[in-house]
Amino acid sequence: MSEKPILVTCGLPYTNGPCHIGHLRTYVPADCYVRYLRRRGEEVVFVCGSDNHGTPIVVSAEEAKISPREMSERYHAHFDQTFRRMKVEFDHFGMTDDPTNHSRTRQIVEALRRNGFIYSKVIKQSYCTNCRRFLPDRYVEGTCPHCGVQARGDECDQGCGRHLEPGEIRDPVCMVCKTKAELRDQEHFFFRLSEFKEFLLQYLDGLSGTLNAKNYALGWVKEDLHDWCITRTLDWGVKFPGRDDLVVYVWVDAPIGYISFTEEWAKKTGNDWKALWCGDNRVTHFIGGDIIYHHCIFWPALLKGAGYGTPYSVVASGMVKVDDHKFSKSRGYVVWTNDDYLDRGLSADYLRYYLLSYTNHTKDLNFSWKVFGERVNNELVNTLGNFIYRSLYFAHKEFGGIPDVPAREEIFGQIRQSFARVDTAMHEYDFKVAVDEMMALAAFGNNYIQSNAPWKRIKTDRQAAAQVIKDCLVLARALCLLFEPVLPEKTREIWAMLGNSSQLETCILDEAFSDLPPSALPAPRPLFPKLEDAFITEMDSLLQKRVGEAKKRSKEEVPVSIEEFSRLDIRTGKILSAEPIPKSSKLLRLQVDIGDEKRQIVAGIAQFYYPADLIGLPVVVVANLAPAKIFGVESRGMLLAAGDRASLLMPRTDVPPGTKIR
Ligand code: MSP
Ligand code: ZN
Repeated sequence: MSEKPILVTCGLPYTNGPCHIGHLRTYVPADCYVRYLRRRGEEVVFVCGSDNHGTPIVVSAEEAKISPREMSERYHAHFDQTFRRMKVEFDHFGMTDDPTNHSRTRQIVEALRRNGFIYSKVIKQSYCTNCRRFLPDRYVEGTCPHCGVQARGDECDQGCGRHLEPGEIRDPVCMVCKTKAELRDQEHFFFRLSEFKEFLLQYLDGLSGTLNAKNYALGWVKEDLHDWCITRTLDWGVKFPGRDDLVVYVWVDAPIGYISFTEEWAKKTGNDWKALWCGDNRVTHFIGGDIIYHHCIFWPALLKGAGYGTPYSVVASGMVKVDDHKFSKSRGYVVWTNDDYLDRGLSADYLRYYLLSYTNHTKDLNFSWKVFGERVNNELVNTLGNFIYRSLYFAHKEFGGIPDVPAREEIFGQIRQSFARVDTAMHEYDFKVAVDEMMALAAFGNNYIQSNAPWKRIKTDRQAAAQVIKDCLVLARALCLLFEPVLPEKTREIWAMLGNSSQLETCILDEAFSDLPPSALPAPRPLFPKLEDAFITEMDSLLQKRVGEAKKRSKEEVPVSIEEFSRLDIRTGKILSAEPIPKSSKLLRLQVDIGDEKRQIVAGIAQFYYPADLIGLPVVVVANLAPAKIFGVESRGMLLAAGDRASLLMPRTDVPPGTKIR
C-alpha cells in the first residue's frame, strides 16, 4: 500500500437543475471505487461539491427571479441530499462560490500571471444592443463554425461537441431577446494553453485512468491547441484579480474547487491538503465523457502553469442516454433520480447495481426500465438474494445459527480466486467486469447449495448438511464484504443477519478468510424484493410517453431557416391523368405536368376524388422529394393537400404549371 492517501473527486454538478440518473454515472462508480479501496484497507479521501458559477446558473436564476446564490444553495442542498439517498458519501461536499474557492482561484490566477501564462488581448465579442450588454457563453446562440449545427456560445452541444471561444460562434443572436448580436471590441485575458503541447503529450502518455480519457485528449492535443479566453463580462463568479468588471471563466474556478474542497476537508479534520495535491499525487478524477477536454487538457495545464502537481488518474464514463438521445432537461429526454426513482420507493442499491454492471464503464448506456427490471430480478433477486436467504434460512431453521464445523478449504480457494479477479478489474476501473465477477461468486454459491441440497441431506446425515450450510455462510459473508461497494444498503443488513456487531463500513476484505465461529442467528428476512412486471411496464410507458412528447416538441421547436426552406422545390402543376392502383383502396397513380416535365406521382386521395374529376386540375407539388416506391409504383413528388379529407391546394388565379412557390 502507498504512503499518501488517494484523493478521489467527482465532476461537480451545476446548481441549476435537479439530479438525473445521467449524473449518477459519475458519482455511483466513484463511490463504489472509494468503498472498494477502503475495503482493501487503503486510505482514501473523497471530496466533491457543487459548481455554482457560469451563465447557465445566471440564466436559470433570472428565470426563477432569485439570485444566483439562492439558486445555488437550493440545488446544492438538493444534490447533497440526493447523493446521501443514493449512498454516495463524500467526506466533504463544498460550493465553488464559497470563500475558500474564491481565494484559491485568485491565488492560482495570480501565479499563472506571474509565470507568464496569462496575457490580455482585445477581441470581438457578441454584444446585444437591445439588452445593452456583452453576451458571454450561453447568452448567445448561433451556428457552430466547425460543423454548422445550431450551438450555444461556449459549446457546440448538439453537434460536434467542440468548445467554442468567445466571438467564434457564427450568426450570433441574443438568447434573451433574440436580437441579432453585433461584435464589439473588448479586452480579455487569455491562458497560454498552446504552450503546453509538449508537456501535455508527455503527461497524457503517463496518465492513469480509462483509455477513452487519455486517447481522446491525446488526439486533441496532437490536432491543435489554442489559447483559452479565461475572462467573462459577468457579475456572478470569481472576480479576475485587478478587474472588477470581469470574472474568470467558470471552467477555471470549477476544477480549482477540487483543491478548495480538499482544503476545507483538511481544515475540518486537521489534515494537510498540500500533501494530497503537490508533487507526485494520487488524485483520481471521476467524470463523464462530456468533460474530458476540460479535465485532461485544460486542467493539468492550469495546475502545471501554477506550480501544482498534476492529477494521477482520470476515469471517464460513457454517457447515459434515453432512446439514443443525450440527456436534456429542456427537451424531456431525462430520468430524474428523485421523482422517477427514489420517490417511488425503489432501492438505491438496485440502481447502483444497474449503473455499474449493465455495460462497460466507458460505453454509452441507453437507460431502459425493461433491462433494469430483468437485471435486478435475474441477478440480484434470483441469484444473490436467493442464495443469501436460503443459506441463512436453513442455518437458522436447522441449526439455530452457524453450525460448529470448519468450512472446507475449497470454499476459501473459490473466494480467493474471485477476490483476485475483482481486484484486477477494480484497479482497471472496469466496474462491469468487477460486478460480474462478484455475481459469479453468488452464482457459485447458489449452485453449491442447490446441488448439495442440505434440505435433503439433513434427513439422513445431519453432519453433512451442517458442512454445506457452514460453507454457504462463509460464502455469504464473503459476498457481503465484496458487494458492499455496490450495494451498501443491502449488505449492511445482511451483515447484521450474519450475526456481526461490527460496522461493515469499517471491515476489510481479508475478514472473509478467517473461519466463522459458531453462534446463534436470528430468523432472516428476504432482502431483495422482486420488481413486478406491471410496475416496470408502467415506468417504461411513462418514459416512452415523455420521449414521444419530446420528439413531437422538438419537431415543432426547431425553426426552419430560409436556406432550408428554399431547398424545397415546390411548384404548381396540372393533373394530366389519374387512375386507381390495383389492390389499393387509397392510392391513385397520377401523371402531372410540372412545367419542364411530366411526373408520375402516387397520392393517397382515392377515397375523396373520382379519378375523372381530377383531370385538368391545377395542383401544388413538392418536386424534389426523394423518389419512393408505393405499392410497387414509383412516385416522384408529392401533392400538397390539407386536412383529413385531403383538400387539394391550388393557386387562386391561373398560373402556368411549373411556377415556383416561394
Ligand atoms: N459543472 C460541470 C463539471 C465541472 S467539474 C470541475 C458539469 N456539471 S454537470 O452537472 O453537467 O455534470 C456533473 C457530472 O455528471 C459530470 O461528471 C458530468 O460528466 C456527469 N454527467 C452529466 N450528465 C451525464 C450523462 N447524461 N451521462 C453521463 N454522465 C453525465 O459538467
Ligand atoms: Zn459543432
